[in-house]
Amino acid sequence: MCGIVGYIGPSEAAPLLLESLRRLEYRGYDSAGLTVCEDGTLDTRKISGKIADLVQAIGASLPKGTLGIAHTRWATHGAPTTANAHPHHDCKNEIAVVHNGIIENAAVLRRKLEELGHTFRSETDTEVLAHLIDECYEDRLEDAVAAALSQVEGTYGIAVVSTRDVDKLVAARKGSPLLIGLGEGPMYFVASDAAAIVEHTRDVVYLDDGELAVLDRKGYRTLDLKGQPLTKEVSRVSWDLGTIERGGFPHYMLKEIFEQPNSVRDTMRGRLLEEEGTVRLGGLSGCLPRDGIDQYNRIVLTACGTSWHAALIGEYMLEEFARIPVETEYASEFRYRNPVLDERSLVIGISQSGETADTLAALQEARSKGARVVGIVNVVGSTIARETECGVYIHAGPEIGVASTKAFTSQVVALALITLYLSGESTVAPEQRREVLAALKRLPDQILEILARNDEIRGMAERYHLHRNFLYLGRGYNFPVALEGALKLKEISYIHAEGYPAAEMKHGPIALIDENMPVVFIAPHSSVYSKILSNIEEVKARGGRVIAISTDGNGELDKLADHVVTVPATVEMLQPVLTVIPLQLLAYHIAVFRGCNVDQPRNLAKSVTVE
Ligand code: G6P
Repeated sequence: MCGIVGYIGPSEAAPLLLESLRRLEYRGYDSAGLTVCEDGTLDTRKISGKIADLVQAIGASLPKGTLGIAHTRWATHGAPTTANAHPHHDCKNEIAVVHNGIIENAAVLRRKLEELGHTFRSETDTEVLAHLIDECYEDRLEDAVAAALSQVEGTYGIAVVSTRDVDKLVAARKGSPLLIGLGEGPMYFVASDAAAIVEHTRDVVYLDDGELAVLDRKGYRTLDLKGQPLTKEVSRVSWDLGTIERGGFPHYMLKEIFEQPNSVRDTMRGRLLEEEGTVRLGGLSGCLPRDGIDQYNRIVLTACGTSWHAALIGEYMLEEFARIPVETEYASEFRYRNPVLDERSLVIGISQSGETADTLAALQEARSKGARVVGIVNVVGSTIARETECGVYIHAGPEIGVASTKAFTSQVVALALITLYLSGESTVAPEQRREVLAALKRLPDQILEILARNDEIRGMAERYHLHRNFLYLGRGYNFPVALEGALKLKEISYIHAEGYPAAEMKHGPIALIDENMPVVFIAPHSSVYSKILSNIEEVKARGGRVIAISTDGNGELDKLADHVVTVPATVEMLQPVLTVIPLQLLAYHIAVFRGCNVDQPRNLAKSVTVE
C-alpha cells in the first residue's frame, strides 16, 4: 500500500531512487514520483502510471543531486492522477513529502490550512502534511515535522526534504512500515521495505511507531516526537538481492511457485524432531509452552486474503489434533464486533507481510482484552512480528508477486508445526505424530513432482482461458483450497470464480452449471473421497466440465472428469500444500494466456496497510 524510499549519500540520487522504487512497486503501482534536492531547489517529476512510465517520461533528463525521496502509490484519497501522485509540496515548493498511510483528520486540517491562506494542488491527504510542516517551520526540519505530526491522526510512514534545511532527510513512522538503511560511503536510506535497498546495504534500523529519524551526510539520529534521542539496534537482513530477482522466470509469481520445494523446506528447517516425535519452535517457547494448550479454552485464528485461507486449514488441523475449539476470523470483521476474549483465549494472527492493517489492529484489540497474541509472519522485523508476544516465522523468503503462493504453502506448514507443538499425547498418538513428521519431510520432493506437470497444466489453461466463470469445489481440508484456487484465478485473470464446499453446491451454485461452466474439484483420496465423487457425478449430469485435482491412480475419477491432474498422496492435513499447486499454476497460465499483468494485477496491492 504505497512504497516510499529516500536517499542521501555520495552518488546521484535519481537512478538509485528509481531502482529502489522498482523493488517496491509490489506495494502499489497507480502513480509514481520523485524529488531530488540540489543547490537549494527541489526538482520533482511525477506521473500517473507505473515506474516504467516515470522512467520513460524522465528519459535522459534525470534530476541532478545526491539527496532525494520517491514514492509508488496505491490510491486511497483521490484518483491516481499526476496531480495526486507523490511527492507533495507546500505552496512555495520548499518542502517535499512522500507518505504511506492515511491521515484521518486530513479534511479538518485542510480547511484550517486553507483559512490560513494555503493553496492545495491535489485531492490527497498527504498534501496536508507538506502545508502543515510549512506552517510549523521555525528553524529545523525535524522540529517542524514533529510539530506537524503531533496534530495528525491516522497512519504514516513519511520521508521529507526541504530547501530550508539542506542536506537533510527526515523520516517518521506511525502504523506504516519504515526502516533506515546504513550503507558505506556513507550513504543512508529510508524505505518501506528492505527489498528497496538490499542492493546497497543489509544493515537496517527498524523504526517503531512514534519515532523519527534524521539523516544527513555525516550520520543518522533517531528521536521520539518530543525530540528525545533514542538508541536503536542495527539488524542485518538475512537475504540478498539474488533472492528477490526474477532469476530467469518471466514473472515473480511463476518464480515463487517454483520456489516452493525450497520455501517449504525452509519453513521446516531445524524444526522437525523426528526421534522425539515432535517439533522445535524456538519463537514460541518464550510465551507458549509445548503441550500448553490446557491453559486456553479457545483459539482464534485471524488474517486476511490468502492468509485467511491458510488460517481456515489451521482451524481444521488444530481442532482435529489439539481438540480445542478454534474459530477463523476475517481480521477486518473480528476487530469491529467486540469479540469475547480473555486471558484464556489464544489469538494467532497470520500475515505474509506482517503489515496488513486489519490483522495488526485485530491483534492489538485481542491483546487489549487480555488474550495471548501470537504471530505467524514471513517478513522478519515487520510490525506484526514485533508487536506480537511471540511467534513463528515461516521463512519463505521475499514474496514479490502480488498473488500470494509460496507464503500460503509455508503458512500451512507452519500451522501443521504449531498443531504438533501444541497437541499433547492424549489427543495425538506417537505413531500419528511420526506419520505427520514423515509426511512433512516428503513435501518438498512431492511439490517437485507436481511442478514437473507444469506443461500439462499450461495446456489445460490454454483450453479454458476464454471461459468467464469458474467454480472451485472441495471438502474438508480441501475446502479452503477451493477458496484459494478461486481467489488466485480472479485476482490475476479477472475471471469470476467462486470457491464452495462441494456439498453446498446443491444449495445454489448447481443452478449455474452448464457446458460453459468449468468446475474444478479438489478431490484427493481422503475420508470424504466417495462423497466428492457423487458431487462430480452431479456436475457431469448437468453437462458441466470437470477438472479434478486428485491423488495418483484414481481409476474412477479418470472416467468421470474431463481432466485429472494428479498430485502425490500425503496425510490429510497436509494435502492442501500439494493440491493448491496445480491451482496456482492454472491461474498463472490462464492469466498469461489472457494477456494480464500477472505480478501487478489491477487495483490490488501486496501489502494492504490501510483498513
Ligand atoms: C493482500 C494481498 C494478498 C494477501 C492479503 C493479506 O490482499 O494481495 O495476497 O493474502 O493482502 O496479506 P498478508 O501480508 O497479511 O498475508
